[in-house]
Amino acid sequence: MDHFAYQNQQAYCEDVALKEIAAAVGTPCFVYSAATLRQHVKRIQTAFSSYPTMPCYAVKANSNLSILREIFALGFGADIVSLGELERSLKAGVQADKIVYSGVGKRRDEIEAALRCGIYSFNVESYSELDAIAEVAVSLGRKARVSLRVNPNIDAKTNPKITTGLFSTKFGVIEAEALAMADRIRELPSLQLVGVGCHIGSQIVEVKPMAEAARRLAQFALGLQERGHRLEFIDMGGGLGIRYRNEDPPAPEAYAEALLQEIKPTGLRLLIEPGRVVVGNIGVLLCQVITTKKTPEKSFLIVDGAMNDLIRPSMYDSYHEIRTVDFEDTHTEIMDVVGPICETGDYFGKDRALPKGLKAGDLIYLRSAGAYGSSMASNYNSRPRAPEVLVDGKAFRVVRRRESLDDLWRLEL
Ligand SMILES: Cc1ncc(COP(=O)(O)O)c(C=O)c1O
Repeated sequence: MDHFAYQNQQAYCEDVALKEIAAAVGTPCFVYSAATLRQHVKRIQTAFSSYPTMPCYAVKANSNLSILREIFALGFGADIVSLGELERSLKAGVQADKIVYSGVGKRRDEIEAALRCGIYSFNVESYSELDAIAEVAVSLGRKARVSLRVNPNIDAKTNPKITTGLFSTKFGVIEAEALAMADRIRELPSLQLVGVGCHIGSQIVEVKPMAEAARRLAQFALGLQERGHRLEFIDMGGGLGIRYRNEDPPAPEAYAEALLQEIKPTGLRLLIEPGRVVVGNIGVLLCQVITTKKTPEKSFLIVDGAMNDLIRPSMYDSYHEIRTVDFEDTHTEIMDVVGPICETGDYFGKDRALPKGLKAGDLIYLRSAGAYGSSMASNYNSRPRAPEVLVDGKAFRVVRRRESLDDLWRLEL
């Protein structure tokens, strides 16, 4: 459910016509719906309300400060993976004791900053990282709360580039190593073992691998407790998928039920790190047609957005629904929708049925662009990054301005 719909043959986000935003802000631009965002956050909270659960929003999915502020104001914590995400989250008002720090390569300065502000836990991904955290904690005279990220070798059945729970990936440690690390933590007074966790991948559309991972983690946690480790939580990571095209991902309620069935018997608090499911369908990327073109084999719609704005189609071959801002008529033409970047890989959609006769100046938009869109954007081809607009009812505001040409070389010496 989202708040993008047609009214009087015009595409709207909540009560604002996309055309009005394009006229005021220009294109390409990301447009987000605050009502959709709040609805998603609350739905997740309600789905897990029968059990002590702390949702920590995966900041990487969309890290705009205004989006973060909305999410944290509703009570979510943060799952971060860098110093930048730490500072961003704090600036957006997250409580430090609701931050979990994930990632396979945390630098010492990053560990130090996280320790100084008193985060909830580090998700530790290797033996050597354990030692690094212990050393930094000693140097600061602090105790670090740590959780062990287990790699359960479970196939999340998603795109290989976002599969993270197999032994062939760089993430987490095998259970035997995690056991050894737990025993090692006992010898290190600067560390406190507080949890175990995993994150098996992203855009997961089947409940089975997530339930299997929860079962494994619950068993592993019970084993640790039998060995005398006093745990506080199990962190099941993020990964719940959304519908881009015809996927049928589990609803948050079914996802919650599957996880809670496995976690409840442990009595441990549950942490989750949802990203995509919170923000994926809150946003669209609004673009303008620059021109059209035909080759002996194809018709192309060339728009002003490109892979630097939304890299998902190029990077993961992923599908985004493409619509016209003016209500579509039934006469369609099959086209590839592409950007102006000098790579054949710069495309938004292949062989799409779009209204016949689209021309320069017409507006189109890509749905489900709220997650891993703006946060993965770049300046490739020296293109200023697109602005972001947040709609709330009848009002809208720019929450990230368009980069200027000067911004492109501002840091160059
Ligand atoms: C450790 C961790 N947690 C949570 C997430 C969020 O995943 P998703 O956006 O699929 O919910 C990711 C995504 O890569 C991750 O690496």
